Amino acid sequence: MSERGEQELAELRKHIHKMARKAEDSGDPLAWFENLYRISEGDDTMIPWSDGHPHPFLVEWNEQKASRGRALVVGCGLGEDAAYLARTGWEVTAFDLSSTAVEWASKIHQEPNIEWKAEDLLNLPEGWKGAWDLVLEVHILQAIPPEIRQVAATRLAPLVAPNGNLVCIGRINLTGEELDGPPWPLERQFIEEIGSQLNQTEFLIQNRPNDEPEVNRYLAVWNSD
Ligand SMILES: C[S@@+](CC[C@H](N)C(=O)[O-])C[C@H]1O[C@@H](n2cnc3c(N)ncnc32)[C@H](O)[C@@H]1O
Repeated sequence: MSERGEQELAELRKHIHKMARKAEDSGDPLAWFENLYRISEGDDTMIPWSDGHPHPFLVEWNEQKASRGRALVVGCGLGEDAAYLARTGWEVTAFDLSSTAVEWASKIHQEPNIEWKAEDLLNLPEGWKGAWDLVLEVHILQAIPPEIRQVAATRLAPLVAPNGNLVCIGRINLTGEELDGPPWPLERQFIEEIGSQLNQTEFLIQNRPNDEPEVNRYLAVWNSD
């Protein structure tokens, strides 16, 4: 993908903040995602969280994992993580609230073993419960406002199949202060709660090479065994 300069990226982020605030004021706080994908008209430089690559924390985790199975990618955006999992042997279902994102992702990544779906994490098909060997959430909970996030977080663990994994990746708030978003870096206690009905097997906090000094990231993994 082509890249935006730093100033352009800062402007885009400011614009996204405005879109998110407007959506909150209108009583439909998640509506700005579909709007952003739609007004981008296929220009991926308008989607600041999409850099054309799978998340490196996911790659590291997946490379150490021997078994494969059915993977559910939550809020897949433009589908880099879903495509990566499919290429490495997972049978993938990837969904997003935005139907434009899902259609766009399915055109970019034409791997055969991915099913793309427009679905809402808050209202998933009943048959998805306990059905996935891997449930992957990257940058979703931190992108949605706190009231909705609390509910959304409870929807992840019940999706995991026996002996399956829940993997969550995002920004962590280590400041002890409330930060402005989106994205809203998550408190450690909140993250721990996401998988509290499962067994936690990993909790990693790390920065990425080009991160600004105040950015901290986490990978959290649980097993349902
Ligand atoms: C910050 S983006 C991250 C996208 C992708 N996971 C990535 O890392 O590139 C957040 C994504 O979550 C999706 N999303 C937000 N609320 C959702 C919901 N309730 N159900 C499903 N997807 C949702 C948005 O449409 C958007 O694509």
